[in-house]
Amino acid sequence: MSLLLDEVALAAARLAEAGVESPRTDAELIAASVHRVRRGELHTVPDYAFDARFWADIARRAAREPLQHITGQAHFRYLELEVGPGVFVPRPETEVMTGWAIDRLREMDVAAPVVADLGTGSGAIALAIAQEVPRARVHAVEADPLARVWAERNITRYVESDPYTAGRVMLHPGDFADELGELDGTVDLVISNPPYIPVGASVPPEVGEYDPPAALWSGADGLTAIRAVERTARRLLRPGGLIAVEHGAPQGAAVYWVFPEESGWRDTRNNKDLAGRDRFVTSVWSGEGI
Ligand SMILES: C[S@@+](CC[C@H](N)C(=O)[O-])C[C@H]1O[C@@H](n2cnc3c(N)ncnc32)[C@H](O)[C@@H]1O
Repeated sequence: MSLLLDEVALAAARLAEAGVESPRTDAELIAASVHRVRRGELHTVPDYAFDARFWADIARRAAREPLQHITGQAHFRYLELEVGPGVFVPRPETEVMTGWAIDRLREMDVAAPVVADLGTGSGAIALAIAQEVPRARVHAVEADPLARVWAERNITRYVESDPYTAGRVMLHPGDFADELGELDGTVDLVISNPPYIPVGASVPPEVGEYDPPAALWSGADGLTAIRAVERTARRLLRPGGLIAVEHGAPQGAAVYWVFPEESGWRDTRNNKDLAGRDRFVTSVWSGEGI
């Protein structure tokens, strides 16, 4: 045994008491981040190198600060994104929807697909698509200036410094209801993880106290932003273009009906996340609708 692993076991017990969902994992990831090793290398940290900042970070996590704010990083598909106060922490559910979009873009018979990511936050979806779909050009829209600071940081890290993705992620400040007019009728795929929590719903402290309000709340039924995404997608998409929009697990049926045939949508489907819950709706734009 090592001192660090003993401390991790004590910290995991403290996090469990504080109601943290995955106490052992979080304690190990905090230990790894403080000691600048991988999680699987914790046993290699010599006792003399134990860093007491570990306990300061455990205290933050016990106060239900999100793990990703403490380590400063969030993993999203093949990306390591910088996150912190002012930006939504990307979630595994969104990786599944992004994977669906990446698969559709790869099989699309289009030389340089044009993509719009509405409400980009840290830039997670936009950057993953640029990284995994050769030649895709991704327009990322974000209204919140604090979130844009993080998106810019991540875009600089991944796009500006990498010749493969250089110039293929464009950040647009503003409300997605009005932005990207120059692309109207030309976009191959619209993707969005908008705010979708009904106002007044109860959420864990990590979410309610740390994710920005503009990333969470969206009217009494949680569907206000999703309806705005639908309207924006109708003007942006070319005929045959695709949309994917994330929603809360209980909202599958309601969001399905935001994309009806009479509005010009075809083949609307509910799609599940890794836990088998309804998580995102996809549809095809016919080109005309009311
Ligand atoms: C749930 S977060 C998702 C962030 C990121 N796409 C992700 O999946 O991690 C929603 C984001 O949409 C932004 N947003 C909400 N309404 C918007 C609007 N009308 N126009 C532009 N951005 C908006 C919020 O500021 C927030 O960053």
